[in-house]
Amino acid sequence: MEKVRIENLKSGMKLARTIYSPEGLVLVRVDAEITESIIAKLKQLGLPAAYISTKDGDMIPEPVSELTRVDLIRSLSKLDNEVRSGQNANLLASKRPLYDLVDEIVCNNKNLVGITDVRLRKDYIYGHSVNVSIIAVKIGILMGYNQLKLADLAVGALFHDLGMTKIPLEILDKTSGLTDDEVKLIHAHPEEGYNILKQNQGISASSAHVAYQHHERYNGTGYPRGMAGDAIHEFARIAAVADVYDSM
Ligand SMILES: [Fe+2]
Repeated sequence: MEKVRIENLKSGMKLARTIYSPEGLVLVRVDAEITESIIAKLKQLGLPAAYISTKDGDMIPEPVSELTRVDLIRSLSKLDNEVRSGQNANLLASKRPLYDLVDEIVCNNKNLVGITDVRLRKDYIYGHSVNVSIIAVKIGILMGYNQLKLADLAVGALFHDLGMTKIPLEILDKTSGLTDDEVKLIHAHPEEGYNILKQNQGISASSAHVAYQHHERYNGTGYPRGMAGDAIHEFARIAAVADVYDSM
């Protein structure tokens, strides 16, 4: 399997991973043969690259079921709209598929290869959040966490960027450089996310701290508070690794 940039896709290539729309719907299913019309559609949607099968049998299975992933992406998309329109965010609606996610990863613990996903631009934060949650849970399993701890970690990792819902879409969609004020606004997203999460009963303080501290760095160079070492919550340190890994 290899990642091929959209401009280098050719008819007849075979897709090695399913491509989803921003709403979580399947656009092109794994194993489909690439056609000129599919290439045109993907270009139009702004997809940067796709995973292509290089030989028979090298498809890497999805780490979680399509149903769970789509469920989570949909709930995050809904949540984003709720926060942006000033409604109370119903975080608990996302928790059931999240427990399914933890169960699936625990029962079906594959290695980390193949977790990273190619996403459409608009869908980036939702797809990324699901991936961060998956990777964080896998790290949690390696660290010997029990199911309860894994669920708390999964919740925190899934909502780590919830504060981004407080940033106007014009800024998120900007392709040119950001002004100092815009950078300040983006740097406030960990605290904004924490504030939303801590108001929700059913979300633990540990989960909320993932949002607050996921941009802190072990050597103290992160933000918003420049915390260092073990002062950073272990969940947040795990989520930070997962966040960077999935962004590579
Ligand atoms: Fe973030």
